Order: sequence, then C-alpha cells, then structure tokens
Amino acid sequence: MKPTKPRRSFASDNNAGVHPQILAAIAAANDGHVVAYGDDPYTEAALNQFRRHFGKETDVYFVFGGTGANVLGLSAVTKPYHAIICVETAHINVDECGAPEKFTGCKLLSVPAQDGKITVDGIRPLLHDVGFEHHVQPRVISISQSTEMGTVYTRRELETLSGFAHKNGMLLHMDGARIANAAAALNVELREITRDAGVDILSFGGAKNGMMYGEAVVFFDKSLAHDFKYIRKQGTHLPSKMRFISAQFEALLADNLWRRNAEQANRMAQVLARELGTIPPIKITQKTEANGVFAIVPHRFVPLLQQKYFFYVWNEETSEVRFMTSFDTTEEDISEFISLVKKTVE
Ligand SMILES: Cc1ncc(COP(=O)(O)O)c(C=O)c1O
Repeated sequence: MKPTKPRRSFASDNNAGVHPQILAAIAAANDGHVVAYGDDPYTEAALNQFRRHFGKETDVYFVFGGTGANVLGLSAVTKPYHAIICVETAHINVDECGAPEKFTGCKLLSVPAQDGKITVDGIRPLLHDVGFEHHVQPRVISISQSTEMGTVYTRRELETLSGFAHKNGMLLHMDGARIANAAAALNVELREITRDAGVDILSFGGAKNGMMYGEAVVFFDKSLAHDFKYIRKQGTHLPSKMRFISAQFEALLADNLWRRNAEQANRMAQVLARELGTIPPIKITQKTEANGVFAIVPHRFVPLLQQKYFFYVWNEETSEVRFMTSFDTTEEDISEFISLVKKTVE
C-alpha cells in the first residue's frame, strides 16, 4: 500500500491552513456591499483593535503580504542614499529577492548574527562614515521578532537597540512576521515589545498565525506615515476588498486568538525540540524560543525523512534543517513524526 502523507508537516507555519475562527470571520464579512479600499465598518473595527493593543497614536495600513509590508514600511522612512542595517540571515536580506533594495533604492548592510540577533557591537563599525558623502548613510536598523533562527529578542535587548538607533539618528524597524510568537514566548502584551520598547515601524504578521493572508504596516510615530497611503497604492498593496483582511485581523486581535494560536505553536516547538533532542544523531542547534526548531540531521537521513515530511534544509554544508510548528500542530503530529525519525535513524 502506498504510504499516505501526514496531514500536517513541519516545513513552515505558512503551510498551515486558516484558523476556523478566522475563516468564520471572512464568511461573516461576506455580507452585501461595502465601500472598497478600506472605507468600511470591518476595517474601522480592525483598526480599533490595533489601537487598543498599540495605543491611540498608531497608524495602521493593511497590505497583502509580509515582503510588501517590509518593503513599503522601509520605503516610507528612507531615501535611496540611505542604508538599512540587518543581520545576514534577515528575511529582507535573503528571502525577498532583492525587493527591499529595488523598491527603497537603499543598500542593505548585513552583519553576522548571534543567535539570529543583531547586536550594537555588530552595528557600530558601520557608523564610522556617517556624514561622509561617498558612503550610504545608515538610517534604519531592521530586526525580525521572532528571529529567522527561532530566537526572541527580550524587551531589554530591544530597548538597547532602539536607544542606540535613536541616539545615532536611525529608526528601528521590526519585521514582525512572527511577532505573536515572540509576545507569547515572553508572556507580554504586543505593545511591550514594540511601541514601549522603542520600535518605530512594525510589519505585523497575520498569515503565519492563522490568517489566510494579510499583514499590517504599523507606525508608532504618525509623522512617519505622512505619505504612506500613496506609497502603499503606488507599491501595489492597497487591497480593494480590504474588508476581508480587516475581518481576519479583528478576529485575531479581539479576544486573544493571536496569543492562543502562538502559544500552541510555541508549545509544540518545545515538545518537538525536546523529543528530537533525545535521538542521538540529531543535534538541536538553536535555542527553541518561538515556533522554529533547528537541528543537525545527518545528510543521509534527510531525503528519507523528506519522502514523507516536507521540510527545509537551512544549511547544506552542516545539514542543519528547520522544522516549524504552527497554530494547528498537535502532540499526535509530533509523536507520528518522532516515530518516523526514530525508525529512520535506527
Ligand atoms: C521573517 C519573515 N519576514 C517576512 C516574511 C513574509 O513573507 P511573505 O512575503 O511571503 O508574506 C516571512 C515569510 O516567510 C518571514 O519568515
């Protein structure tokens, strides 16, 4: 008999479906006509949720996807002679096909990461030539929370970075594709690790935490958003049927669904890391703080496991792979996978 594929895999939180409450919210919004492009009651309700979480003086713009949120948010606060500083592993640096460079015109200056994170010591050498007309001028530090390596910046680390950025005439941009996982991991409110920690612009992720699609560009200083409505439209990210993104955000933010989804994903990552860690040839390589688990799986086992479970190899040389959990991952999914891993490496 042909083996059937498991229903859920560990390749990406983007591979998960849509949370039933979100799907129900989309269906509920599918009622008659409302004005297009965001001038509708669903959008108003969703924006109110964002203001409830992040404070009244917050400007929020919905867009289709995460790359667009990053590119447009960064475009709003930069000129082409600026530089954006990030870690080598940053999504904007390696996974956006050069879109941030193309659309902002800025040079990305990347520095090595420690535990997936940027540090002030890593950034400092890039500031030697501030004011020198032959060099690009650092304007933004961009970080991902949680990081691409499944780690989480603490509030103190964020305050250090924002303090350093502001002292040096820069802004702090956060790629929050997985901001919910970070807040859940730290057991804090969303604003504690964004606005209150000195973040200036946030890409707020929805798709990885149970939404069908849709992200938000969030400005904590309204003056930075001055021209953003034009930037979004020209940047092709003004959704005509905005209500269907808005309804999803409202459902996610209104009654802590965002936190429940993220907690489930994070908890499952802990279980997965713990179980994998007991299988001798496998070595966990990063701290599992959010919903990503990184591990060395010896080369020869990778294709065998991939016959049944799709997942990404992060580093071909070292055979480090990434497993992601999501809001719908269950303990049974993990035990099924772990039994296959055990059988495969025996
Ligand atoms: C850290 C990070 N930022 C942003 C994104 C957004 O990507 P997309 O444009 O596919 O929504 C992703 C998606 O994988 C991501 O992992």
